[in-house]
Amino acid sequence: GAAGLGTYAATKGSGASAPKGAFGAPTPVSPDPGQTVVTKSLTAKPITLDLAGRTVSTWGYGDAVPGPLLRATAGDFLRVTLDNQLPDETTIHWHGIRLRNPADGVPGMTQDPVKPETSYVYEFTAPDPGTYFFHPHVGVQLDRGLYAPLIIDDPNEPGGYDAEWVLVLDDWIDGTGTTPEQVLEKLLANDSGSGGMGGMGGMDHGEMGGMNHGAMDEAEPWGDAGDVTYPHFLINGRPPADPETLRAKAGQKVRLRIINAASDTIFTVALGGHRMTITHSDGFPVEPTETDAFYIGMGERYDAIVTLGDGAFPLVAKPVGKAGGGQAMAVARTGSGAAPGGDASPRELTGRVLIGSDLRPAQAAKLPSRRPDATARLTLTGSMQPYAWGMNGAPFGKNEPLTVRAGQRLRINATNMTMMTHPVHVHGHTFALPSGLRKDTVLMAPMQSFAIDLDADNEGDWMIHCHNIYHAEGGMMIALEYI
Ligand code: C2O
Ligand code: CU
Repeated sequence: GAAGLGTYAATKGSGASAPKGAFGAPTPVSPDPGQTVVTKSLTAKPITLDLAGRTVSTWGYGDAVPGPLLRATAGDFLRVTLDNQLPDETTIHWHGIRLRNPADGVPGMTQDPVKPETSYVYEFTAPDPGTYFFHPHVGVQLDRGLYAPLIIDDPNEPGGYDAEWVLVLDDWIDGTGTTPEQVLEKLLANDSGSGGMGGMGGMDHGEMGGMNHGAMDEAEPWGDAGDVTYPHFLINGRPPADPETLRAKAGQKVRLRIINAASDTIFTVALGGHRMTITHSDGFPVEPTETDAFYIGMGERYDAIVTLGDGAFPLVAKPVGKAGGGQAMAVARTGSGAAPGGDASPRELTGRVLIGSDLRPAQAAKLPSRRPDATARLTLTGSMQPYAWGMNGAPFGKNEPLTVRAGQRLRINATNMTMMTHPVHVHGHTFALPSGLRKDTVLMAPMQSFAIDLDADNEGDWMIHCHNIYHAEGGMMIALEYI
């Protein structure tokens, strides 16, 4: 992490003397007797990807983007070996999993970065069922295509669906002419004149009015939602010109597991001709809620159930507030009928668009009610011009960590003091919104405030950051430390 993570070990209060490279090899841990062990090897490496006939060079896990699905059951012990064949250091972060701190994948905070041509073993128990994903926690490597879905099944779940579709959404820079690292460099240099493929064509932020993108729906709550103009948007690594076909039978109930692995794009998701019933948010069950469409921020996951009609339907993820246009699409097919075109615009996109924070938690997902023992302040700060983001008024490395004692209920009073929307992600914990909704990643609209409560039940040093990877690397991160 160019902007900040590398400096963490040097600035951390309790570990001020800990030099970089102090972590060494991962300490092996053993599964409990009777625990099922799920073993997997992942190779991070340069690959070429075929985007509808256009070959791009990029990085991935294995031979494809997304990388291979990793699946286990709640309570299982995962042992994943990362073989780093990239020309750069990397790590894996298991996004949303309440795992042991040393396996969290944050270089300089929980481990040394994994050097090229070396490997690293991640060992942890996955305690909670749900839809997750994993990605590096180094720089903007996520935006190169290093991500893959992670599903933790519920051993007690009744199921109740006939098929399951995993959909991973992404915004895609280019991979050939421009790298994410070059885009970040330009953003940090405030070079707004570039534009074009993988450039920053959307830098019309001088007015700071929030709602200044022509492409934006008037009812859009999110204000400016992204900095980078992407030429492509993908579902499961495929552009709309060559979409994936998801198959089932008419009348069947399908569980959709939708993961937003994009670096800089909030999407509106809709399935043409259908209403969806949202059942889970960031893995946790919610009161089932029917909707035409829903927003999904970077790092968020939603599960939905849908009963399929007969035909071929566009499953569209439309970027929110993006200057460049375009969309991501897959095709849901249960019968014959012409495939929808890549620019299909189902009317559900403009129907009821659910905001995650409007959901109510299922009873089983509620945090037991309890008065907070401690409070902390989390203010999102910064602006597009200059491109300088922070938390509590300073970029990561210069801001004071939030602190908590094990066993406390911590109330974090969060305020977004910027004119952009930011998905705020907390590592190693889940939190409850004022409604009780449990999440690990939540969208904060411009100037919005709310409190989030978390139980300090997982000791270690953890990150809280914006899941716009460019904002995070621009400084929008802060540490959460147990004292
Ligand atoms: Cu998915 Cu710290 O992030
Ligand atoms: Cu942000």
